[in-house]
Amino acid sequence: MLVTLTLNGARLSEDVRPDMTLFDFCRAHGYKSVKCACETSNCGLCTVLLDGEPVLSCSVLMARADGHDVTTLEGMGPERELLSQCLAEEGAEQCGFCAPGLEMAVLAMDAAHAGTDDETIRRYLSGNLCRCSGYASQMRAIRRFLARHKNGGELPPRDVPADPTTQGGEKHEQVARPVAKKDSGALLAGKPVYTADLAPEGALVVKLVRSRHANALVTDIDKSRALEVPGVVAVFGPDDVPHHRFTLAGQSFLEPSPYDTVILDRHVRYVGDEVAMVVAESEAAAAAGVRAVKVTYEQLPAVLDVEEALDNEVVVHDEDDWKHGSDTTGDAARNLVAHGETVHGDLDAAFAASDVVIERTYRTQATQQAMMETFRSFAYTDAFGRLTVVSSTQVPFHIRRQVATALGLPKHQVRVIKPRVGGGFGAKQSGCNEAYAALAALKTGRPCICSYTREETMSCSNTRHEMVMKVRVGARRDGTIEAIDLYALSNAGAYGYHGTTTVTLVGGKTLPIYNHAAASRFAYDVVYTNTTPGGAYRGYGATQGCFAVESAINELADELGMDPCELRLKNLVKPGETLWQLGQEHLNSCRLDECLERAMDMVGWKGRPLSEDLGARVRGIGVALTMQGSGISHLDIANVDIRLEDDGFYVLSIGATDVGTGADTILAQMAAEALGCDVDRIVTKGVDTDTSPFDTGAYASSGTYITGGAVLRAAEDLISKIRAQAAHVWGVEAGDVEFDGECVRCGENEMTVAALANQMIGFGLQPGMLEGHGSNTQPTSPPPYMAGIAEVEVDKATGKVEVTDYAAVVDCGTVINPALARVQAEGGISQGIGMALTEDVVRDERGGLRTSNFMTYKVPTRMDVPEMRVEFMPSFEPTGPFGAKSIGEVVINTPSPAVMSAVAHATGRYVRSLPITPSKVLLGE
Ligand code: FES
Ligand code: FES
Repeated sequence: MLVTLTLNGARLSEDVRPDMTLFDFCRAHGYKSVKCACETSNCGLCTVLLDGEPVLSCSVLMARADGHDVTTLEGMGPERELLSQCLAEEGAEQCGFCAPGLEMAVLAMDAAHAGTDDETIRRYLSGNLCRCSGYASQMRAIRRFLARHKNGGELPPRDVPADPTTQGGEKHEQVARPVAKKDSGALLAGKPVYTADLAPEGALVVKLVRSRHANALVTDIDKSRALEVPGVVAVFGPDDVPHHRFTLAGQSFLEPSPYDTVILDRHVRYVGDEVAMVVAESEAAAAAGVRAVKVTYEQLPAVLDVEEALDNEVVVHDEDDWKHGSDTTGDAARNLVAHGETVHGDLDAAFAASDVVIERTYRTQATQQAMMETFRSFAYTDAFGRLTVVSSTQVPFHIRRQVATALGLPKHQVRVIKPRVGGGFGAKQSGCNEAYAALAALKTGRPCICSYTREETMSCSNTRHEMVMKVRVGARRDGTIEAIDLYALSNAGAYGYHGTTTVTLVGGKTLPIYNHAAASRFAYDVVYTNTTPGGAYRGYGATQGCFAVESAINELADELGMDPCELRLKNLVKPGETLWQLGQEHLNSCRLDECLERAMDMVGWKGRPLSEDLGARVRGIGVALTMQGSGISHLDIANVDIRLEDDGFYVLSIGATDVGTGADTILAQMAAEALGCDVDRIVTKGVDTDTSPFDTGAYASSGTYITGGAVLRAAEDLISKIRAQAAHVWGVEAGDVEFDGECVRCGENEMTVAALANQMIGFGLQPGMLEGHGSNTQPTSPPPYMAGIAEVEVDKATGKVEVTDYAAVVDCGTVINPALARVQAEGGISQGIGMALTEDVVRDERGGLRTSNFMTYKVPTRMDVPEMRVEFMPSFEPTGPFGAKSIGEVVINTPSPAVMSAVAHATGRYVRSLPITPSKVLLGE
């Protein structure tokens, strides 16, 4: 079919397939700003202008574009740069994957003079999803952009909250400041920086044949018809690929998770499990090949219910070569992935001393991380026959080990590169399709790409672990908490990755808040079922545990007739204490009581009723507290190199992975502060396992605390080398040389660091280029804390719950970058509200997923969340860089228990099973 159109000002006339979409056409012409996050016209990331009107390019066939004028972000004028500036200064672009689509929609709205009131903005942009930001920062940026019309065309100054960033009010030059992300220019211009944008031309496409059954043996695979499909290059089944058990968990060696996975298996254990791989010249050929593979199954009974899994006669992993990880508490024959118990004090005596004991069961559902960039990786072999894997991952070094193990290769044969990542939230702490791309590249000798669709990402990767938690709390009549007994049953799904480590946070990151209790116990079982595997999701098990424990504390307060905030203030952990349920760690920094008091002030809690009748609606308020960690004590390790380059700039080499949170920028801020230079003089070099120093990766809230600590050590090491080198040049003692960031000095001698750096090159001075190295691991994982208060309104007729206000106060130590930290908090709260109200992984009775796209799985849009109010209560953590702790995960935990309590106060209905749907509110569970 011949089409003629104008694309970004260029007149084009081309023959295209009749089913080609405008999305494919734009990307084929190199306009990579046009992104896809769904296949159901729900995300808005593919927005382009058709004759000036915004359209979803994935839904526009080329026949409709014929004769029209098409503009992508690359073709927009200078207004785009103004809008980008507003977004960058708010830190609103985060992973940036949704940014081009949003910018197109905002620019169209602006051109249409649609209006500048919040309601109009929200409605106009309601189809533009963002999973990172929680929308509030975008709204601030868009308001400012639109306000230029009333400001003579100039952007008004940013309305910056006066954030306290340090406990003592110390001023820094580079940290504790809202520096824009280093990659914001590229992200907001829609540059090709993500994995799929970078795949080589002509890469073969890998697609997977997947199980239709929850538990079955594959008795035959007929590839003959698939191999006849034009464009299909190869089809591989379980017998054609290496069979080495590994775990998809991206965790440090020895991994705690069991080795229960192979690349392709004849035993498939959930609907969506991989059966075979098809490699083809194009997406269309690969998809046709997948449809043509005929698989014969012997169906087996399946166990789908987490509460029926333990010791069920259906054994999910009956293979002989199942292997424990470093956690040896599991027993595959019992469907048991892990089991454990930690006890502090005399539980029976503490309950006996209690006047009131409540016992409740809470259920948290499996939820999707739903990052906008789905799983993508490509692989190729280089001139030396080594395998290079480019992957959108949080854990490049762990992926290197995984791919090598799965394929039976020595690790030196594998190199992993991480480009920009369009969000991860823990999902990409597990391997996914890297081994398929790698295997296909090895087998075919050609570059191969494996990109998961949204449906595959939701059905065939990993989710938050579903849990059932029983909580028993005992307290004296005056509100003194005496005892807490917590049990968690966690659904690992078909494979046990992250099973052990997730569940340990259920108790480990909740019970220490009520550290004064005379006794506490935390016990758990993690079980296999024939469902989508559980994995890592922001908050890990702390999120599930927070719902159970904080809800129980709220119910205890109601039972005692006490204000839930007062009850907490009476029992809260304080600095200097030993955290009994957290490896007996010593608590250095904690301002949780002040966080709570400030959050109470923000909503006018004191003297305010817990519920108000508004006529057709009823309002309620609820509170929750939470804590998390900062890296994994004794285990996480970061290495950092900083090299002095010509003219005195620095290359900061890290193995830590920025997955959109701004780690590259925050670490550069710390390096700049330590080296006494401007952050612009620091170049952050992203991860390539061949050249980057080892880092465990982006998880467990480790970036700021663990890698930041390594940055400081590397900077100190480099400064000592700079002074030594100047001393060598001048023939003086290094101890007599001063360095202020710009110059080295000793008596009459003075030289800029730029001049010193240039001498290192121009005069062949030994020892050559100066490089500092720092390594950091910590025996502690200092908890960040947060208090969250939700205000909800419940429709009396429908039971629909709307969160109308959310106030949060965070103690993350020194706030290294308040703009980025605020967006982290807002995004986390938004995800937490989604978990509380709408998000749910639902399966049919055969184990098939009912919620495999953004139509059926409801992530919050900007219509569904309020503009959260976030403040900081910085403490000073002596073991952290500049006093910092972490913020990435703690922010997701409080919404579900706070909303649950607010709904209970409004309606009298305690919905103990998430999500809190209208029918549960109206009719009960
Ligand atoms: S890819 Fe077009 S709306 Fe999602
Ligand atoms: S910034 Fe919107 S999805 Fe990441």
